[in-house]
Amino acid sequence: MATNTGKRVALVTGGGSGIGRATAVRFAELGYSCVVADIDESSAKETLRMLQTPGIAVQVDVTKATSVEAMVTAAVQHFDCAFNGAGIAERATATIADTTEDEFDRVMGVNAKGVWLCLKYEIAQMLQQEPVMSDPAKWADKPDVCRFRGVRGSIVNASSIAAHYPTPMHAPYGASKWAVLGLTKTAAVEYAKEGIRVNAVCPGFVDTPMHHRNMEKLSPGEKEKTESWHPVGRIGAPEEVAEAVCWLCSDACPFTTGEHLKIAGGS
Ligand SMILES: NC(=O)c1ccc[n+]([C@@H]2O[C@H](COP(=O)([O-])OP(=O)(O)OC[C@H]3O[C@@H](n4cnc5c(N)ncnc54)[C@H](O)[C@@H]3O)[C@@H](O)[C@H]2O)c1
Repeated sequence: MATNTGKRVALVTGGGSGIGRATAVRFAELGYSCVVADIDESSAKETLRMLQTPGIAVQVDVTKATSVEAMVTAAVQHFDCAFNGAGIAERATATIADTTEDEFDRVMGVNAKGVWLCLKYEIAQMLQQEPVMSDPAKWADKPDVCRFRGVRGSIVNASSIAAHYPTPMHAPYGASKWAVLGLTKTAAVEYAKEGIRVNAVCPGFVDTPMHHRNMEKLSPGEKEKTESWHPVGRIGAPEEVAEAVCWLCSDACPFTTGEHLKIAGGS
């Protein structure tokens, strides 16, 4: 991916840990300023200290409209990229009949409603912004691409490989990640002509605190089986997902919207 020449700002939710943190670090390496947002403000601040570019840390609860709106307002700079990475995975040990209403609401609240709220306020802000050509030289000889490419903004949502298979014993999480794909594809179509691209990443098992918390619930045999499930024979690194998010946000793929990219070692 080319280093960006213009001033670009990336908003990252769930930026205090795992994939969100790795994504903020990669955005900064590519020259973006970052708005690192997380429900855990101290972890967002810790990520900010790891970045090579200036930025801000923001406390946000993605399940609350007022909080998400305030996050977008705090990112008053012309942010043109967003990674909606905040997510939770509750216990993966209950059938549908055994799952409680509270568990279902919590997971859907963060993973599905949270992504919808982020899209709602991010898109509203992007629509107010003038289209920007961050790297005009790149497309100088292709005026049609310039005219139609996503110049207002690019958003990537965190779905999961769980949105490609049934997820026995983990129905709320699986359902929430299918919902993210529905929101992604709908937003992509609704705002394609406004110059806003919306895509999703679908990681397999990735070495993050969330993954470790999930593995703690399994027996050693189940853990080994899970971690060797991907055809490549290993789990992913958060940096491998971050690279894909930054590519989807970049000028490298102006014709790519409404897509979901599996990053799952061949699964
Ligand atoms: N790690 C994996 O194996 C894996 C696989 C597929 C998809 N994902 C998805 O990728 C995303 C990142 O996962 P991760 O593994 O880095 O998890 P993580 O637990 O390491 O990080 C998630 C971050 O989201 C934040 N968060 C949780 N609830 C929030 C809320 N209400 N508002 C704002 N922030 C909140 C947490 O504080 C945390 O910093 C999630 O959406 C997850 O579902 C992860």
